Amino acid sequence: MIRMENLTRTFGEVVAVEGLTLEVDEGEVFGFIGPNGAGKTTTTRMLCCLIKPTYGTAFVKGNEIGKEPDALNIRRIVGLLPEAPGLYERLSSYKNLDFFAQLYDVPAVKRRERIKELLEMLGMWKRRDEPVNTFSKGMKQKIAISRALVHDPEILFLDEPTAGLDPRAAKTVRDFLSELKQEGRTIFLNTHNLVEAERLCDRVGVINTKLIAIGSPKELKERFWGRTTVVQLKKLSPNVVAAVKALPFAKNVRTEDNSLLIDLAKPEDENSEVAEVIIRSGGEIQFMSELKHTLEEVYLELIGG
Ligand SMILES: Nc1ncnc2c1ncn2[C@@H]1O[C@H](COP(=O)(O)OP(=O)(O)OP(=O)(O)O)[C@@H](O)[C@H]1O
Ligand SMILES: [Mg+2]
Repeated sequence: MIRMENLTRTFGEVVAVEGLTLEVDEGEVFGFIGPNGAGKTTTTRMLCCLIKPTYGTAFVKGNEIGKEPDALNIRRIVGLLPEAPGLYERLSSYKNLDFFAQLYDVPAVKRRERIKELLEMLGMWKRRDEPVNTFSKGMKQKIAISRALVHDPEILFLDEPTAGLDPRAAKTVRDFLSELKQEGRTIFLNTHNLVEAERLCDRVGVINTKLIAIGSPKELKERFWGRTTVVQLKKLSPNVVAAVKALPFAKNVRTEDNSLLIDLAKPEDENSEVAEVIIRSGGEIQFMSELKHTLEEVYLELIGG
């Protein structure tokens, strides 16, 4: 759906984005994470044809960025939530949305339906006639999110959609993004919220001018730490430790308080045998679970804590 080939952008001496080559599949939620100034917004702006690359190129549903009439086609099929809401401050939220929907040639009846649906979902319908300049930051963000969706785009580019939203509103937006995903829409998401990225994204790219790593959150975690089973015992005895260490597939067996930590290649297949030898050597198991790492830990490893 989106293909970048050596995509590069400089601003004078500053290299904002360097040599990005990656693909985002149709129906995928792809997250872009990376520090401030890493080039996330610049990439989004290139893909939405707001600025041209210095070098390299990209295709959005077969249309090449920076080329006409391709760029016009891209603008038609994408929805963009930019970093700054950029609304018409003196117009009401309804008029803002109606104006943008008209630009996208959405028929009048459909416009009203769609605007109502979006504003109701985000709890802003009651305030539809008030000018945007009387709204709080989060409220403006909700209007900007609605604007990105008002023409029912196939591909959505969201630059930090939940930044500035209260926890409940952020959850509403996340749930809504999950719904859009169910509908098969492609979503390109820039975010600093790693819990959000982990929950929503099929794959994430870690960027710091260049692409540093890419994969599903699960793959990225396993790349660093493999998989570890934690067995909490009533009491840890040398017998039990020795028995587990003797298992040929148990790697890096270590202890922590009353727990055994064991690296396993296929815990789903190997855990029952682990349990068996523990019980046979007199151990009493209280809990067995997988040691969970977070995307935040991966991020800090990659970017440097
Ligand atoms: N219009 C511009 N003129 C000059 N430099 C720019 C411009 N836009 C971006 N840059 C530079 O490009 C680099 C990447 O910026 P970008 O906004 O893409 O980062 P980002 O990953 O979105 O960061 P953040 O997480 O803070 O939003 C930065 O060094 C920034 O100063
Ligand atoms: Mg940005």
